Amino acid sequence: MKTAVKIVPPEQVRVDLLVVASGQLHGKVPDSLLGLDEATGGAIQRSIATGDFAGERDQATLLYGVRGPRRVLLLGLGEHAQITRAALRTAAAVGVRRALGLGAKSVALYVTQETHTGVPAEALGQVVTEGAMQGAWKFVQLKAVRDGKGPVESLDIIVTREVRAEVDRGRARGHAVGVGQRLARNLQMLPGNVCTPEYLATIARELARAYGFKVTVLARPQMEKEGMGALLAVAQGSLQEPRFIALEYRGAGRDAPICLVGKGITFDSGGISLKPADKMEEMKYDMSGAAAVLGTFEALGQLKPRLNVVGLIPSTENLPSGTATRPGDVVRSHLGKTIEIVNTDAEGRLVLADALSWARRYKPACVIDAATLTGAVVIGLGNHAAGLMGNDDRLVEEIRQAGDRAGERCWPLPLWDEFREQIRSDVADVKNSGGRPAGSITAGWFLREFVDGYPWAHLDIAGTAYLDAERPGLAKGPTGLGVRLFSEFVLARVRG
Ligand code: BES
Ligand code: MN
Ligand code: ZN
Repeated sequence: MKTAVKIVPPEQVRVDLLVVASGQLHGKVPDSLLGLDEATGGAIQRSIATGDFAGERDQATLLYGVRGPRRVLLLGLGEHAQITRAALRTAAAVGVRRALGLGAKSVALYVTQETHTGVPAEALGQVVTEGAMQGAWKFVQLKAVRDGKGPVESLDIIVTREVRAEVDRGRARGHAVGVGQRLARNLQMLPGNVCTPEYLATIARELARAYGFKVTVLARPQMEKEGMGALLAVAQGSLQEPRFIALEYRGAGRDAPICLVGKGITFDSGGISLKPADKMEEMKYDMSGAAAVLGTFEALGQLKPRLNVVGLIPSTENLPSGTATRPGDVVRSHLGKTIEIVNTDAEGRLVLADALSWARRYKPACVIDAATLTGAVVIGLGNHAAGLMGNDDRLVEEIRQAGDRAGERCWPLPLWDEFREQIRSDVADVKNSGGRPAGSITAGWFLREFVDGYPWAHLDIAGTAYLDAERPGLAKGPTGLGVRLFSEFVLARVRG
């Protein structure tokens, strides 16, 4: 989708759908819409008079023009003082998703001049662009028969002269992040027979070629040489070859990099500790952390910020077979600690353990991992926040705030010493499951055992990486969660 910022009166916009977002109205057509009201033969005035549209939150009214735009969608934003970045992002997403449903190819968005939000112009440009790209997402790659609707080809953001430059700066950023998030969602959507570890490596190589990143891909023999016994223990049940992927973006010489780690289990059957059949197909999404890292690198490649970022993706399938790991097996990790694998379905923490250990070589400023790690986080926080843990309170808070700005909220869980008890092993240094109580926290504690010498935080995105029902402006299925948060986090560190 192409995006642009334009200075043009709303009634002169020539598009298939003009989305007009407005805060609460006071019974009359705002001045900036008088021309558009006329172009719709007074339809705005009538929709206000009937009470159908008052600018209230979530109100939506579709009108047809006589001149100007072919269709006009009025969207309510509610009380002006309470219009947040998230509300604007969602409004743009709702508008474009509606365009998709209507088969409209060109869309314009106008947040009325009379709508006074606390959101600065640059941020507004960013969030509406992010939202529009979110709403435009539709996965057709594996359809042989298509419905003919979409794609939405263009978005014009209508503004006044004074804010044009700022909105456009935000638009460029939002576009880059949106492209990254689209990549993440597409990768998530692909099933395990297509999106294999080698497929993820291919995407990483393509990004590296397109944007000039350094890329390193380890196959089984190199992992053996490196001593990645935890990752290999998960991989040994599958015929798919595992991959360990490292991407390096250099935008600031020799500065210590931010390191982003993504769980890349391309299908998680549970292994010998097999999962029940019901909804097992959703475990194609178990590479959502990896998708978030790859999507973030796409955004980095486009924006070229002045800092360094490393992306690490430990990737394999988790399948049962005659060569699979047995419950009770003990393996030696990359760090050297031994692990008793009591449950082969707690595989994410195994592959992440070796990645966290590998991360030491970059002497990172900080390491953040994203992983669909535990069902327990879905019980604790549902689909509305990722679980957040770490060994550094300042980093955890920095991430929480980045998530708020990104509309990808996360919420802290405590890594108190007492929880460590649950992963003590009689036979090895640590065991890979602490049972049901505080399952997300004991998973976090397990990861912490493999963190050595850097500030670290962990995002458990099992409840937020994909949705089983649609939301306003968001299709059901993969969310690409993590791309906006990671991008926001990284870009904020440039300025600081
Ligand atoms: N990939 C799953 C976690 C998951 C569950 C993601 C639901 C998305 C939705 C992970 O590998 C897993 O199986 N975790 C186990 C850990 C347990 C065996 C200690 C779980 O949460 O049940
Ligand atoms: Mn599992
Ligand atoms: Zn898993």
